[in-house]
Amino acid sequence: MPIYLDNNATTRADPAVVAAMLPFFTEQFGNASSTHAFGRDVAEAVKAARKSLAALLGAAFDHEVVFTSGGTEADNTALLSALSTQEGRNEIVTTAVEHPAILSVAEHLEATGRARIHRIGVDATGRLDVEAYQQALGPRTALASVMWANNETGTLFPVAELAQMAHAAGALFHTDAVQAVGKIAIDLKATQIDMLSLSGHKLHGPKGIGALYVRKGTPFAPLIRGGPQERRRRGGTENVPAIIGLGKAAELAAAQMADATTRVRDLRNRLEQGVLQQVGQCRVLGDAQNRLPNTSNIAFEQIDGEAVIHRMNRAGIAASLGSACASGSMEPSHVLRAMAVPAEALRGAIRLSFSRDNGEDEVDQVLQILPAIISDLRSMSAA
Ligand SMILES: Cc1ncc(COP(=O)(O)O)c(C=O)c1O
Repeated sequence: MPIYLDNNATTRADPAVVAAMLPFFTEQFGNASSTHAFGRDVAEAVKAARKSLAALLGAAFDHEVVFTSGGTEADNTALLSALSTQEGRNEIVTTAVEHPAILSVAEHLEATGRARIHRIGVDATGRLDVEAYQQALGPRTALASVMWANNETGTLFPVAELAQMAHAAGALFHTDAVQAVGKIAIDLKATQIDMLSLSGHKLHGPKGIGALYVRKGTPFAPLIRGGPQERRRRGGTENVPAIIGLGKAAELAAAQMADATTRVRDLRNRLEQGVLQQVGQCRVLGDAQNRLPNTSNIAFEQIDGEAVIHRMNRAGIAASLGSACASGSMEPSHVLRAMAVPAEALRGAIRLSFSRDNGEDEVDQVLQILPAIISDLRSMSAA
């Protein structure tokens, strides 16, 4: 059986998610906006899904959840909304290690003269330079946007604290929590976070669905205008089957969070300890104290990560080189460069990311295969 250790790229939809979605392609095909029975039943189901997702986030009101086509749309919406609603403020404070769903929008806004962007750096373990963040905030800041968890290293950012600092400067605060939701407990009521992005396919839900949490009272401008759907915050007929799937995924994540987190962390740690014991000249990247339980980024010195991934793939193990978006290009990841990972390790970093679908037997199989791949590649390059 192939072993899938690329759960930060995407997860397998839970069979219960698929089962919950199916009737909404057939018998329950109505449009949620229709006033007849076909529509009303569907609208009720969408309402229940919104409630499940709001509960997973610890939102105060279900209507703080706005369904989108995914994490990328939610991120785009947050940035553009803040710029258009925060009069007299045209600066965005973000980090050098965000996902392209933030960084490329920021770059575009900068290139077209619509915003000034501050990209705050990180230290060698991926921790944000909080002092520089605070200094960058000011009377011109429309929005601070800092990811909750980094997709490549799993490093967690102190978003509750960062949101307070943004508010003290009169700015809004957004977090890209695409990698955090479903993996760690979140209670938005206890924070000052104004907006949060998430994506269904990272938590065993379907692809092409996500949400933007918008705290009640936060000034908001839609990205996609059209019909009155989502209380006029996102036009377009709702993707009902996917919304139902995301609701189910949220319900399952909430119910299994405590157990799954411990089990997944144990698997990840077992793998890291095994690799560190068996392989020399390698290091685990990221903040050891504040890290997602499922993510491991291991850099092997003097090795080409692409070759490792390729060999692992041939042995039936799926892992990735940095983030899914960065791999395929020969450029080393922007995240690892921001962490100033030394040149000898930069190209040899691979990411292994777990989910509740993985088991101990899989870790043991990887521990039989991966050290041999590394030693083989090293002896080849020595020869
Ligand atoms: C941190 C982060 N933000 C945003 C996204 C984009 O989400 P989606 O694939 O739903 O558009 C991803 C996906 O890899 C991600 O890891």
